[in-house]
Amino acid sequence: MKVFKTIPEVRAWISKVQASNQTIGLVPTMGFLHEGHISLIKYSKEKCSKTVVTIFVNPTQFSPNEDFEAYPRDFERDKGLCKKAGVDIIFAPEPEQMYLSDNQTFVSNEHISGILCGKSRPIHFKGVTTIVTKLFNIVDPDFAFFGQKDAQQAIIIKNMVRDLNFRTKIFVAPIIREKDGLALSSRNKYLTNKQRKNALVLYNSLQFAKEQFSLPLINVDSIKSKITEMIASKEECEIDYVEFVNAETLSKEIKKGDKVLLALAVFVGSTRLIDNILLQY
Ligand code: PAJ
Repeated sequence: MKVFKTIPEVRAWISKVQASNQTIGLVPTMGFLHEGHISLIKYSKEKCSKTVVTIFVNPTQFSPNEDFEAYPRDFERDKGLCKKAGVDIIFAPEPEQMYLSDNQTFVSNEHISGILCGKSRPIHFKGVTTIVTKLFNIVDPDFAFFGQKDAQQAIIIKNMVRDLNFRTKIFVAPIIREKDGLALSSRNKYLTNKQRKNALVLYNSLQFAKEQFSLPLINVDSIKSKITEMIASKEECEIDYVEFVNAETLSKEIKKGDKVLLALAVFVGSTRLIDNILLQY
């Protein structure tokens, strides 16, 4: 496994791989890897001849009041996990490698970047689409792998690929959870033991909705109020949003027969956690 810090090194390696007609899979991450990230690496290894993992805590997707500085980082541990998972290349640039001090160009979704997570994180998706574009331009992957955990991010990236004619195919992989249901996230590290227990209310709410959707009569409004109650009753838990949306468009208008996404964002203490489930209405 090779570790590259600069764009020219990556490009030189990519050229060689492409010259031998091998396919390239890209797994973009911000590091502090867990089984969710490793599952993406496994999908890439199944589908592609070579797998590139990028580890970059992208400053442009964090607002000044967010956790960019505090975001957990452990490069040596990540390197070991990547090696064990059979990654071919880690690209781990410094911020100066990715953004010039007079960077003037961004990529942004003009339609759904201001709803759900974009409401409380207004610049977030612009940072995501910009960095993913840059990574696609550097790595030129045949496939790129993203997690359903960040459902809105996955849809925004799919739409970006469609709208801007990227050749890369996007694969969205299922959410990996702890045994008790908590979705894996690098940010779970911030939780105290007590918060970790209370954070289970996200998964339990999703399970409650799943049960309700299996009944003949589905009342979305009452499920939403029940979930709101369940979350609000937990200590240190504050709802950012609980939304039922169309799973493909993220529109709030949903009707019988639609594939629906129930998406949650909850502050547990000061840690913002997200989770979601796909449901058939
Ligand atoms: P990060 O949070 O490190 O996540 C990297 C990838 O892992 C994302 O596609 C995310 O959806 C996926 N992932 C995270 N937790 C998961 C879980 N429990 N199960 C399955 N997949 C999971 O998302 C980002 O980084 C950044 O926004 C990035 C796309 C790298 C751009 O900076």
